[in-house]
Amino acid sequence: MPLALIALAAIPITAGTLRLVEVFGGPHNLPTNPRITASPAPVVIHIVTASLYAVLGALQFSVALRRRHPRWHRMSGRLVVPLGLTVALSALWMMAFYSGPQDTNALLPIRFAFGIGLAACITIGLVAIRRGDVRRHQAWMTRGYAIALGAGTQVFTLGLGKPVVGSGPLAISLLLIAAWCINLPIAEYDLRRTRRARGRRPAPAVQPA
Ligand code: HEM
Repeated sequence: MPLALIALAAIPITAGTLRLVEVFGGPHNLPTNPRITASPAPVVIHIVTASLYAVLGALQFSVALRRRHPRWHRMSGRLVVPLGLTVALSALWMMAFYSGPQDTNALLPIRFAFGIGLAACITIGLVAIRRGDVRRHQAWMTRGYAIALGAGTQVFTLGLGKPVVGSGPLAISLLLIAAWCINLPIAEYDLRRTRRARGRRPAPAVQPA
């Protein structure tokens, strides 16, 4: 599972690394993004935190890692939570202040909702684990990660969808939103499957953090 998640995030992480190289004066390997050229700060913060969140977040789902190194999950979680919140806040920052084709249609509020949703899921997941509610914690952290990894699924929805629906602002917004509409039901399906597999076993005991 963690490897598949990291593989899904690999393309946006690679694109982000190339963008960072460009922002810090290296060669230009990606199409110019005038919003980033004009105001690189939010995207630099976004790329660094999103890449770390995607990789460390994926490892949080490893049952083997949690069993073999129980402290790892807790220590890493203390990094993953602020990273995830920074991904959400930097995305909201860009959506609010970057002027571009994405703000010429009515779908921007939906993208905003997913940014707020990411922050909300992580916050609810954090509150849950502080109260010792492991299942609620797992559920909301999974939902938050599914929203964030929309960036990976968007590579596919854009790649496959553009030839079909075109590259207009409305089409692009719909293809971006489609990625979240794919990821969230998959996350819910996985949560239900895990719940069923656990059956009536009691939740693992945990000391409130
Ligand atoms: C782990 C998850 C994520 C990764 C790896 C990621 C990666 C990236 C990268 C690499 C860029 C720069 C694109 C470029 O160079 O042109 C970017 C931009 C952006 N991201 Fe993310 N992202 C993630 C999550 C999110 C989420 C959850 C949202 C919104 C809810 C979001 C919204 C944005 C926005 C609005 C931009 C600016 C796009 C523009 O105006 O050109 N990202 N992201």
